[in-house]
Amino acid sequence: MKNIIITGASRGIGYELAKQHLALGNRVLTISRNEDKLAELKDFAQEGQYDFLGLDLTNFEEIVKVLDAVSTWDKVDILYNNAGLCINKPFAEMEEEDLLRSWQVNFMAPYRLIQVLLPKLDKTSHVVNVSTMGAVQGSVKFPGLSVYSSSKSATVNLTELLAEELKENGPRINAVALGAVQTEMLEEAFPGYIAPTQPNEMAAYLVDFGLNGWKYFNGKTQQASISTP
Ligand SMILES: NC(=O)c1ccc[n+]([C@@H]2O[C@H](COP(=O)([O-])OP(=O)(O)OC[C@H]3O[C@@H](n4cnc5c(N)ncnc54)[C@H](OP(=O)(O)O)[C@@H]3O)[C@@H](O)[C@H]2O)c1
Repeated sequence: MKNIIITGASRGIGYELAKQHLALGNRVLTISRNEDKLAELKDFAQEGQYDFLGLDLTNFEEIVKVLDAVSTWDKVDILYNNAGLCINKPFAEMEEEDLLRSWQVNFMAPYRLIQVLLPKLDKTSHVVNVSTMGAVQGSVKFPGLSVYSSSKSATVNLTELLAEELKENGPRINAVALGAVQTEMLEEAFPGYIAPTQPNEMAAYLVDFGLNGWKYFNGKTQQASISTP
């Protein structure tokens, strides 16, 4: 049984990711603001297998509560920094609040979460930062995503930096740059766009990558996309 933390599990890819890890018998802690949706995941869990924490990840100070929530765990095997905020707005209209919230959710929260969980992360732990193809240098870019993609690319850079700084004692830390997946985030940001990948399909890739990718990669960004070059 592996110990798994998943942020942003109240819907979309994170929800499917939690379901699939629970089906494998792993112990799962989920985090997001919508506690009612997180509570629904109990239906897929055995006694003692699942817990959730209602937390707004823009609140930097409160992120320390995650360490309390796993105080009885020997270690964290996989931390998925999956929560994300995607604002699609023209550059000229982007407001301070858009920048702040995006950088808090997409960059500062993963940063702080890795920091507070360090006592529970060892050489065989795996931090998976869920990013986007738009964060990959030289990839196709979309107008309107100046804040989203740049904040996500900072997390890609952080992945490389922490892999180096933490290499003696771990954890292994990698990013996955996703192409389009048919979730509410995509529907809200790009109404009418039909993605080639469903949330359960991307979650299956992330389950496998989380469990096995740390053996082969550290500080790398894997591209998981059949849509965006
Ligand atoms: N869908 C795509 O096409 C696509 C493509 C590339 C990358 N990605 C990345 O994949 C990840 C999952 O995306 P998705 O499409 O499944 O997104 P989604 O359906 O919008 O889900 C996002 C999750 O993040 C949580 N979240 C957002 N703000 C939060 C906050 N302040 N505090 C705590 N939790 C917060 C939401 O929970 P609450 O609202 O309950 O807090 C929700 O569970 C994201 O990092 C996204 O950037 C997605």
